[in-house]
Amino acid sequence: MAVRVVVVGSANTDMVAFAPKLPAPGETVLGTRFEMASGGKGANQAVACARLGAETWFVGRVGNDWFGDTLLRNLQGAGVNTEFVIHDAEAPSGVALIFVDAEGQNEIVVVAGANGRVRPSDVDAATDAFARANALLVQLEIPLETVGYALATAAQHGALVVLNPAPARPVPEEWFGLVDVWVPNEREAEGLTGIAVTDLESAERAAKALLDRGAKSVVITLGANGALLVTPEIIRHFPAFPVQAIDATAAGDAFAAALTVRLAEGAPLDEAVRFANAAGALACTKVGAQPSMPTRHEVENFLQSPPSP
Ligand code: RIB
Repeated sequence: MAVRVVVVGSANTDMVAFAPKLPAPGETVLGTRFEMASGGKGANQAVACARLGAETWFVGRVGNDWFGDTLLRNLQGAGVNTEFVIHDAEAPSGVALIFVDAEGQNEIVVVAGANGRVRPSDVDAATDAFARANALLVQLEIPLETVGYALATAAQHGALVVLNPAPARPVPEEWFGLVDVWVPNEREAEGLTGIAVTDLESAERAAKALLDRGAKSVVITLGANGALLVTPEIIRHFPAFPVQAIDATAAGDAFAAALTVRLAEGAPLDEAVRFANAAGALACTKVGAQPSMPTRHEVENFLQSPPSP
């Protein structure tokens, strides 16, 4: 039977401009391609969970506009249950303006719109899903009050709680007692700890600083350097799978979703991180956020014969 995952978070329409390099402040660069795709860290992670085989609910808000309708259709098309998504008449759907350079690296500006109005009462409205869920996956593109409420609700129901603290924002200390697995990238780990994460040694120090504050386990995603898993018992580096990166947008979302699904299925942490590392690598090989979220079949095939360095 499929595991059940609730994702509470944002849904955005991504406007993506590809260019040989990212513009410096005040600079104009000539782009090579434009794409519009469904995105938003929450919706991306929900789509990834569903494609990876979990029964998935998305809890969030979209505007009463064409963008919102398209975002919902895309979630439904991926098999995500959207019965707890609210069409908000007071705010437009969220958008993200994304620049991607020739190496697939990106810069993102998000304008929250309806995502900024996801409330604790939206979590209450989804109580049925929380009561049945094996895991909650949440990020920081919605109000922190709602994130905290979702964490507490999932913990009360005994679900596994995974937090992808993205984008980087200061978080309340009491969250350390509620979250089972923290999944920041380098910049988010730095934002949480004040330790600049530039290599494995600094990543380990940042992860240990989070453990000192009460985190049970930490997985720092390191882009081209893979991921570092740190718990009180384990310190293990997982090098990135070598792939031809076209667009790294949402690679972290694929990673967080895959980690959550495998953990909810009962996999040990190190096995779940390897699976997540493969999902993140695959997401880099396609353009766009939700279009690049891999299926279970794709991840399992990839892991059967991973590319050699
Ligand atoms: O993580 C990638 C996502 O961040 C994009 O889809 C964009 O919408 C922003 O939320």
